[in-house]
Amino acid sequence: MSEKKPSKVLTTGFGIPVGDDQNSLTAGERGPVLMQDVHLLDKLSHFDRERIPERVVHAKGAGAGGYFEVTADVTKYTKAKFLSKVGKRTEVFARFSTVGGERGSADAARDPRGFAIKFYTEDGNHDLTGNNTPVFFIRDPLKFPDFIHTQKRNPATNCKDPDMFWDFLSLTPESIHQVTILFSDRGTPATFRNMNGYSSHTYKWYNDKGEYFWVQYHFKTDQGIKNLTRQEAEKLSGTDPDHATRDLYAAIEKGDYPSWTLEMQIMTPEQAENYRFDIRDITKVWPHGDFPPIKVGKLVLNRNPTNYFAEVEQAAFSPANLVPGIGISPDKMLQARVFSYHDTHIHRLGPNYHLIPVNAPKHSPETSYQRDGFMRVDGNQGGGPNYWPNSFDGPAPNPAFLEPPFEVSGPAARTPYNYPNDDFVQPGNLYRDVMTEEDREHLVGNIVSHLSGAQKRIQLRQTALFFKADPDYGSRVAKGLGLDIKEVERLANMTKEERAKATEK
Ligand code: NDP
Ligand code: HEM
Repeated sequence: MSEKKPSKVLTTGFGIPVGDDQNSLTAGERGPVLMQDVHLLDKLSHFDRERIPERVVHAKGAGAGGYFEVTADVTKYTKAKFLSKVGKRTEVFARFSTVGGERGSADAARDPRGFAIKFYTEDGNHDLTGNNTPVFFIRDPLKFPDFIHTQKRNPATNCKDPDMFWDFLSLTPESIHQVTILFSDRGTPATFRNMNGYSSHTYKWYNDKGEYFWVQYHFKTDQGIKNLTRQEAEKLSGTDPDHATRDLYAAIEKGDYPSWTLEMQIMTPEQAENYRFDIRDITKVWPHGDFPPIKVGKLVLNRNPTNYFAEVEQAAFSPANLVPGIGISPDKMLQARVFSYHDTHIHRLGPNYHLIPVNAPKHSPETSYQRDGFMRVDGNQGGGPNYWPNSFDGPAPNPAFLEPPFEVSGPAARTPYNYPNDDFVQPGNLYRDVMTEEDREHLVGNIVSHLSGAQKRIQLRQTALFFKADPDYGSRVAKGLGLDIKEVERLANMTKEERAKATEK
């Protein structure tokens, strides 16, 4: 056992007391510095390695701890233990983020906001890694790296580039729903506390009888939705790039704990069979009228991290972390995310990132046959057996925790997406039926301000998509950009391929 030093004595990383932390060890009064100043060398070499790779997306964010409390009986849908009883509380850690910008970028940027929650359950850690938007830009994971590149910097200029941004989106019509939400004022939430969080994907819940259901999660803010206008967001980006990070910390510090009500949409497999929207398609919502959300629980954040790097920067969420009772759906994007997060965490934090306290299971300690690797900082499972099967009392798998089997069928092929639903119906409904006239004015203004930076042929191609969602929507954007509305309409009536050809460079 190591002896604890009095807390006030400065030590090296190895606990050795330091006598002087202001004057380097020099030969004579004026130097040079001696190699044997191990304290200086250690201090510099540790400093040289202080930065870990930032997240490739969602690099700027803020986090807090709290709890999730169940408020309705959902045991007929899922056997997840943390959802097993009304009144049951589970400790959580949540992180909110912007997506495209670097670690120092502005909180007020127009961007989706990440909404990630880690539940420390008795069956291990369960992560829900969602966004503040109920849909996404693409529905095939092969497109994700390309899409993200267009949101980052131009490889030659190292500047954000409206041509890249809109070129990709205008050639990817399924993005139109998310683009419409992103360019509404919901694309610039006033704070992290004033936005909702959605699973966006369909997940699976299964009960102890092996029956399963398709579900979508909606965390509705109890603080109310509050957004910034474009002008407010632009100003804040310059004057206070950390405004949302500071807001979350300050609210929790003064005891004004933010909370969200979890509402679930739940569908049986039979209902999904013939549903007018594809439950595997993340570019679609399930209209509330079809599947009314039911209140299930409450998320409360009441603890600030004591150290940002330890808890927020090192937090690692993954859609692959699912406890028994919850599974993934056949949504291709979600299937790929199940690979991608663990993979990037190994790169960003190392193969034993699950031992970092914020990521370690708190109520279901690891009893696995994984061993060794960089930074294996616990007892490495001691002297227990490191293989299975064994007859030395090692941990054994238990079939009670298996997910019920599910059917798969059809040829293995790179089949183009062909579900008979229209990508323009839902953004059209949003524009016409949900938005107020003021929302529509802001939406068009926000689009015009950004799209005006792109080449005219790209403006035309993108505006044709707005027109397809709703002719009034497309016409107003066209007017704002000074485009010929007849030309926009002509492009809107073409197929995707014809439109791409007609607007080639
Ligand atoms: P509803 O009228 O029942 O629901 C509309 C929902 O739209 C509201 O509940 C609110 O979601 C959300 N909303 C309100 N203003 C905006 C805005 N400016 N930008 C984005 N979303 C907004 O209609 P439907 O369920 O039939 O959906 C109609 C359209 O509403 C959809 O096509 C979709 O674009 C959008 N929407 C639907 C959601 C769903 O799960 N059905 C979720 C969010 C948006 P919330 O209560 O979650 O804040
Ligand atoms: C972060 C990949 C789609 C929500 C990340 C990270 C990667 C990634 C590599 C960085 C993780 C880290 O370094 O810690 C992907 C891929 C996607 C995809 C490959 C599609 C194929 C989505 C979607 C959502 C989402 C659809 C929301 C529904 C998030 C969130 C984070 C994140 C919230 C930040 C988590 C945190 O706070 O640490 N994603 N992503 N992603 N992603 Fe995705």
